[in-house]
Amino acid sequence: MPNDTPADLSAHTGERAAPAVGDGLGPVEGADENVLPTQVHHAPAGSSIPDGTAGSLVFLKQFLRHPVQVGAVAPSSPPLVRQMVEWIDWGSARSVVEYGPGTGVFTEAIRSRLHPEGRFFAIEQAPDLATLTRARCPGTQVYEASAADVGRLCDIEGIDSIDAILCGLPWAAFPESLQRQIMEATVQRLRPGGQFATFAYWQGVVLPAGRRFSRRLRHTFSSVHRSPTAWRNLPPAFVYRCRK
Ligand SMILES: C[S@@+](CC[C@H](N)C(=O)[O-])C[C@H]1O[C@@H](n2cnc3c(N)ncnc32)[C@H](O)[C@@H]1O
Repeated sequence: MPNDTPADLSAHTGERAAPAVGDGLGPVEGADENVLPTQVHHAPAGSSIPDGTAGSLVFLKQFLRHPVQVGAVAPSSPPLVRQMVEWIDWGSARSVVEYGPGTGVFTEAIRSRLHPEGRFFAIEQAPDLATLTRARCPGTQVYEASAADVGRLCDIEGIDSIDAILCGLPWAAFPESLQRQIMEATVQRLRPGGQFATFAYWQGVVLPAGRRFSRRLRHTFSSVHRSPTAWRNLPPAFVYRCRK
């Protein structure tokens, strides 16, 4: 589904066209017509769902303990969640995977859009955050593992190829070797034409690691577009929308 945030709605949603930076991706997708470029746990039904504040506190605590792994001080905001999920072809996607669900903000949106015959699982490395996601989205399979293990987990799930991956990993904080490892595992399992959505904070994009990651995306995928910016996110962010 194409992004459809009109310019005059932006001020209300907190989503606007991204400023131009020299990452080679050109204008922003949807800003106008110029679209350029292991363990499995299930939360028991009725388990307590953490409220926003409690979830955010757990998230912040995780960040203070593991700043590189978590890579953000707060969960993604509703405008950024929309930019992630609205682009996915929910009518045709039957196998969907999420990387780094954190407190489960994307997971909830994915579950509410997933086709009745769709298969879905999430991969979260931090046990406390995996627990939060399970509590927020009962019945979701959340593996406590690295996204680099996606191939092995797909084998366990009986999924040959993935239609769509929604990714919340803090790429700009990762060493190059981990970026490469996860990206290679991703491309191996994503079907040709499959969708890969991942967000980036503007502050990270101007840093060398962020620029390196942007180049990696362009070399890896046949198309890469940027969504409008979610300005009210903390910090402001946009989504890279990539097709294999
Ligand atoms: C920036 S937070 C995003 C959380 C959530 N998706 C959101 O947008 O609010 C990054 C998440 O990725 C998880 N993570 C970091 N490295 C990971 C890895 N190699 N595999 C799976 N999850 C990882 C962190 O524990 C954290 O939950």
